[in-house]
Amino acid sequence: MPLLDELIKETKNLEKEIVVLSQEEKKEIQNILSREEKTAELLLAWLEKNPKPKIDLIAVTSGPGLEPALWAGINFAKALSIAWQIPIIGANHLVGHLFSPWLAGHNPQFPFLGLIISGGHTELAIIRSFTDYQIIGSTRDDAIGEAFDKVARLLGLPYPGGPAISELAKKNKTRKEIFNLPRPMINSQDFDFSFSGLKTAVLYIIKKKEKLDEKEKIAMADGFEKAVGDILAKKAINALEKYNLKTLVVGGGVSANSALREILKEKLTNYNNKTKIYFPETKYSTDNALMIAQAGYFKFLKDGQDNLDKLIANGNLSLK
Ligand code: KG4
Ligand code: ZN
Repeated sequence: MPLLDELIKETKNLEKEIVVLSQEEKKEIQNILSREEKTAELLLAWLEKNPKPKIDLIAVTSGPGLEPALWAGINFAKALSIAWQIPIIGANHLVGHLFSPWLAGHNPQFPFLGLIISGGHTELAIIRSFTDYQIIGSTRDDAIGEAFDKVARLLGLPYPGGPAISELAKKNKTRKEIFNLPRPMINSQDFDFSFSGLKTAVLYIIKKKEKLDEKEKIAMADGFEKAVGDILAKKAINALEKYNLKTLVVGGGVSANSALREILKEKLTNYNNKTKIYFPETKYSTDNALMIAQAGYFKFLKDGQDNLDKLIANGNLSLK
């Protein structure tokens, strides 16, 4: 309910209307939230005290992700849709990340190369329109964010590992690489990635040295970012070249990383200084509701609203 309070505050410029729910609607809401009785109770009480904001569409993540978590969101959104009589649409989390740079007012031209780097995904895709995507490469093992999180753990850093590694790496003033970490699959002719070997290389170095001192930890964090940056840049450049694309759009939690942004910008500009590269605002790199609203809107333009009964969670939803 605190989120709904926030919604009402955020929609301060929109008209509001008090709705009185019929017994039938109340029953329908209780039914949809039957597994979360307490939530149903709180929501019904909240709806009696708060007005309906004048919004046109409710977008909710339908996948990919853990299905119980997805269902919790979907059922809540359905309950709101019934209460407020507002259409609903399921949005793809990955599409949300992909178009997150648009939230900053950027408007990259189609077709472009999309690079999604998050806790669960590492995908390269050709994006021909807001709704036409072709995946050309993915990770064969760990997702890139997962690799950041695991390496952070090896370095004794807190979760989530990405921001922690980034902070530590920034302390490396010499920017010299002392560990020479591998760049798995950097020279493979496809567009797939593999990050588990990089993580294992970090593990072996730490094991061999028994303990890293602070300076070595800093160098490891920095070296890890450099290795990841080199891999991402090389794959992106190969794909731009092969598919004759001029624009790269990057999204996902790991795109918040400032060192990776710099490496990608530098290497892509060296490759071709006419190449354009777009990132989300840092605050919209990691998971956020705005990117889901936008992805839902694009899908709505193409397919229209979802039928309440047909909107289901799909843990394995891919970029399509
Ligand atoms: O997109 P996201 O918020 O959630 C998923 O869809 O997975 O991504 C989360 C991932 C985590 O693995 C986290 O460590 C990583 O993004 N991350 C970062 C940074 N901020 C978040 N990785 C590197 N540098 C960062 N600054
Ligand atoms: Zn995400």
